[in-house]
Amino acid sequence: MKKILITGGAGFIGSHVVRLFVKKYPQYQIFNLDALTYAGNLENIVDIEKESNYTFIKADINDAEEINQLFTTYKFDKVIHLAAESHVDRSITDPLAFVRTNVIGTVNLLNAAKDCWKDDFTDKLFYHVSTDEVYGTLGETGLFTETTSYDPNSPYSASKASSDHFVRAYGETYQLPYMISNCSNNYGPNQFPEKLIPLFIHNIVQGKSLPVYGDGKYTRDWLYVVDHAVAIDLAFHQGKIGETYNIGGFNEWQNIDLIKLLCEQMDKKLNREPGSSAKLITYIKDRPGHDKRYAIDATKINKKLGWKPSVTFEQGLSKTIDWYLENETWLNNVTTGAYQKYYDKQYL
Ligand code: NAD
Ligand code: TYD
Repeated sequence: MKKILITGGAGFIGSHVVRLFVKKYPQYQIFNLDALTYAGNLENIVDIEKESNYTFIKADINDAEEINQLFTTYKFDKVIHLAAESHVDRSITDPLAFVRTNVIGTVNLLNAAKDCWKDDFTDKLFYHVSTDEVYGTLGETGLFTETTSYDPNSPYSASKASSDHFVRAYGETYQLPYMISNCSNNYGPNQFPEKLIPLFIHNIVQGKSLPVYGDGKYTRDWLYVVDHAVAIDLAFHQGKIGETYNIGGFNEWQNIDLIKLLCEQMDKKLNREPGSSAKLITYIKDRPGHDKRYAIDATKINKKLGWKPSVTFEQGLSKTIDWYLENETWLNNVTTGAYQKYYDKQYL
């Protein structure tokens, strides 16, 4: 039975990847390693936690000794690495936390994998999940391709860029088999309500203001999280060792246009007067070093592996809003901090 280590599987994207792998591959033993930081929530994967091919490991990738020990004990065959500090605004207030987890934590995993696999790299893989933010910012035109130079602007993107470089360096120096995918902004169920879409859904429900940074004319390419998980599955199984795959939604939106669409959908779903949510829009001070535009050219993964997004943005956004409206308990537990007690209740 193949042993697959997935890190960060209690987080937003990781929980969707863990669910997909546990359900689709009963022949794999899936180990979900997560430190359960503020962003890790085991309620995200409550539906699969009793599956016989699933094991949860509470561990911190910053603890090299523990990570080495886990590789020695379980002898993982492959790794899908998602654990990270992921919020740009937090990276501006605490850059070192991002260096620790995203850079040193990744190197700890690389070392443990290298030492565990050193005699035989056959059928081994270190799959590193990264972001399009490593490429920096675009002007009005152009797209990020797999060969675009790295040019990160935020402490978050600098730490992710550094981790990507380390993964590639371990490939070159030690022949560690690796793959990297760089994805655009994800949205969907289970995203912590500090990122734009879930924060604004929550604020609209509560009648709170919608804080738009700067002039709101910043552009992001949005992808439904399940489509990202499917792309990772495809690249992990059919991608080429040593390659990078850009993953994106072919779906660029200026923040303000996205927010207006969200407001319209929310008014309808909450049976509120048209225009009432948009009244909550409040322009505030800009984020320092705010990247103007991200846009991914996902031609490679489309042509080589046949991947494309399965839902339109309007459909994905509607599904996302429905999920948040139907999962009030999840949202309350997250906003009150009650979700952090779940681990103790369930596991201790
Ligand atoms: P998230 O913040 O929702 O989840 C991160 C998970 O990692 C949490 O469960 C957290 O507990 C865990 N974690 C954090 N520090 C840890 C540590 N030291 N040891 C072990 N576990 C730790 O993040 P996300 O949005 O799901 O992003 C997952 C990955 O995908 C990240 O690597 C991120 O850079 C990348 N990514 C995210 C997006 C996006 O739009 N969210 C887009 C492209 C790439
Ligand atoms: P975010 O969801 O934090 O993702 P990222 O910074 O990784 O792209 O933000 C998406 C966009 O929305 C980004 O341009 C910043 C903007 N934004 C706001 O205008 N207000 C907010 O409160 C947040 C969280 C983001």
